Amino acid sequence: MPKEKSCKSYDKIQYSKKVINLFLHPKNVGEIKNASGVGEVGNPICGDVMRIYIKVSDDKIVDIKFKTFGCASAIATSSMMTEMVKGKTLAEAKKLTFNDITKKLGGLPDSKLHCSALTIAGLKKAIENYEEKN
Ligand code: FES
Repeated sequence: MPKEKSCKSYDKIQYSKKVINLFLHPKNVGEIKNASGVGEVGNPICGDVMRIYIKVSDDKIVDIKFKTFGCASAIATSSMMTEMVKGKTLAEAKKLTFNDITKKLGGLPDSKLHCSALTIAGLKKAIENYEEKN
C-alpha cells in the first residue's frame, strides 16, 4: 500500500526571499470599482481562486488589482504580475508569460509553477473581458 503523503511534505518547499516577501507584503491587493475588465480563474485540483481587475485607458493598463484565495506562491505571483503589467499596453501585457513572472521571483518550486500559470490565465481573462465589452 502506498505511503500517504503527510503535511510534512510541504515543509520541504523552498521559496525565494522575493516570494516570501511578496506573500507577506503583496502589492495591488483589492478590487477596482467599475473595472474595465475582470477575470476570474480557479484551479480545480488545488482549489485556489484568483480574481484580477484591470482599468484600461488609451489601450494601457493604468491600474490593476487582485484578490487571491490561495497558497503563498499564488499570492506572490499575482502580486508580481500586477507590478509587471501596470502601465503596459494590452499588447505588451498579453506577451507576459508565467516564465517571466517565475524568473522575476527568483524561481518557484516545480510543484508551484501552476500558481504562476494561473495568474497569467487570470490576466488574460481580464483582458478578454475588457475586449468583449469594447
Ligand atoms: Fe494552486 Fe498555488 S497551489 S495556485
